[in-house]
Amino acid sequence: MIGKLNHVAIAVPDLGAAMTLYRDTLGAVVSDPQAISEHGVTVSFVDLDNTRIELLEALGEGSPIAGFIERNPAGGIHHMCFEVADIIAARDKLKSDGARVLGDGEPKIGAHGKPVLFLHPKDFTGVLIELEQA
Ligand code: CO
Repeated sequence: MIGKLNHVAIAVPDLGAAMTLYRDTLGAVVSDPQAISEHGVTVSFVDLDNTRIELLEALGEGSPIAGFIERNPAGGIHHMCFEVADIIAARDKLKSDGARVLGDGEPKIGAHGKPVLFLHPKDFTGVLIELEQA
């Protein structure tokens, strides 16, 4: 069911410092920061040949990554995103297998303008999983 690894998201306490690290120290192509207020994050994409890294910094009150940064002050891997061909079919199969879909279970439009869902980390070896319809 899952296809390509679309991205790995890393929550960071300081987006500018993380961008410098990936651009200057690791020599990657890093996009300009983009504030996405409806998701409570500012994001910068690190483009690699075979996937992307999303650097996420909390934005505004009640950011979904604020608690993660509190528990992981240096930052850390926040989630992985896999592509699926049909997000509704994927959701229905996962639910029938007992996996928990976060929120109301309806896909939302994610950072790339495509429908996404998140799966409960306790059902997936401690890792928050995002599914994106490719
Ligand atoms: Co993501």
